[in-house]
Amino acid sequence: MGAENGQSAEQAQPIKQRKNGLYQGVSEELAANMRAGWADTARDDLAPIEQAPNTARRRAALSARFPGERLVIPAGNLKTRSNDTEYSFRASSEYAYLTGDLTQDGVLVLEPVADGHEAVLYLLPRSNRENGEFWLDGQGELWVGRRPGLREGEALYGLPCRDVREAATEVARDGANVRIVRGHDAGLERALGERSNVERDEELRVFLADARLVKDEFEIGRLQAAVDSTVRGFEDVVRVLDRAEATSERYIEGTFFLRARVEGNDVGYGSICAAGPHATTLHWVRNDGPVRAGDLLLLDAGVETHTLYTADVTRTLPITGRFTEIQRRIYDAVFAAQEAGIAAVRPGAKYREFHDEAQRVLAEHLVAWGIVEGPVERVLELGLQRRWTLHGTGHMLGLDVHDCAVARTESYVDGALEPGMCLTVEPGLYFQADDLTVPEEYRGIGVRIEDDILVTEDGNRNLSAGLPRAADEIESWMARLRG
Ligand code: GLY
Ligand code: MN
Ligand code: MN
Repeated sequence: MGAENGQSAEQAQPIKQRKNGLYQGVSEELAANMRAGWADTARDDLAPIEQAPNTARRRAALSARFPGERLVIPAGNLKTRSNDTEYSFRASSEYAYLTGDLTQDGVLVLEPVADGHEAVLYLLPRSNRENGEFWLDGQGELWVGRRPGLREGEALYGLPCRDVREAATEVARDGANVRIVRGHDAGLERALGERSNVERDEELRVFLADARLVKDEFEIGRLQAAVDSTVRGFEDVVRVLDRAEATSERYIEGTFFLRARVEGNDVGYGSICAAGPHATTLHWVRNDGPVRAGDLLLLDAGVETHTLYTADVTRTLPITGRFTEIQRRIYDAVFAAQEAGIAAVRPGAKYREFHDEAQRVLAEHLVAWGIVEGPVERVLELGLQRRWTLHGTGHMLGLDVHDCAVARTESYVDGALEPGMCLTVEPGLYFQADDLTVPEEYRGIGVRIEDDILVTEDGNRNLSAGLPRAADEIESWMARLRG
């Protein structure tokens, strides 16, 4: 047991109690009572987090890219939701990637030294019991729960840890050029002032996005876990479709969310629970519409793991359990496009290839149905299919659902696929309810099929193969689950 209850004599100023927005006086006797009688719970038996060797490797790569410079990677701060309540906190992906820690206000600093960098993790220590911080401050452990002390943080993250209240002064010290990952911690950015500049800072962010394109074994394992939980979440939804019919799309959102919170940290993005014509709205997250027999349900949802890796999966399901003829015709076209897209995911293939392959198949069907005039080459050249295909066929997946979005063009959209990259393949067809250019029977139908595909040494692996994709398999899977 170490002596670490956060007691530090310098900070012995009393704070007023704040509860439900009200400050109340504290008697000396109560304050004295609250200072004492607490067991020392500091632990000296903590093992490093599983990914500690991975985060060390990632920091070494970062250090090698920016020799001689101070690098500042903040976790970010709480954001007010209303009055004195906050949105639930999610650490910045860059900070999570480099430390494995996920706590608010944390800051990773790589300080240049003779042979590289010394990494320091700034964290909020255990609450001071002497000055009342423990029970009178909104971030006191009595209010928000015990957190690791600095020595405990060192054991967990394999990094020297210091009090985060020193971070602003430390990062602004003279002696080195500074870069910060912007957009997460306005206080630190203010502290740096003109010590950092936007263009140089952006190079740091872009480097980290590039570095995250290829996943290591730990990350692949977490992505598979995210997908596995997501598969269970989709099964949960199918089992309660009758209750969703009696209520609304919200029942589906809530059902999936339960799985995400029980098995993971959260959903990785707002679940899209789109029944009937809502499926033609790409980001339908209001989820307040009716769920009707005879319609399709487009469910696009992903569980985020406790380490913040997310799945991103879509299935389009007939609410009755059986596709109608027109639903199946459209579904089969999207399925064929997805098959063509997935087949184009292999090492060495251009990133754009899977999109092009899927778009071609969709365009062929639109021409064959007489919805757009051929030939297919002309349609593709002019992009005419896009009225109904609407979006790109996929994106990288990882800590962010749209992962590595600021990576360099040459390493991402103009680059080639490499083993360890993970991407979605998600073609869709969307016929708006008021689209007078398509036959009436198509209107109000939207179909997307989305899977999470890992590039392997010799091709790819579908991480979400635990969910059926072909129309017949969807029907028999739904029948089985609904018993
Ligand atoms: N769920 C967002 C997307 O599929 O990209
Ligand atoms: Mn999606
Ligand atoms: Mn996606």
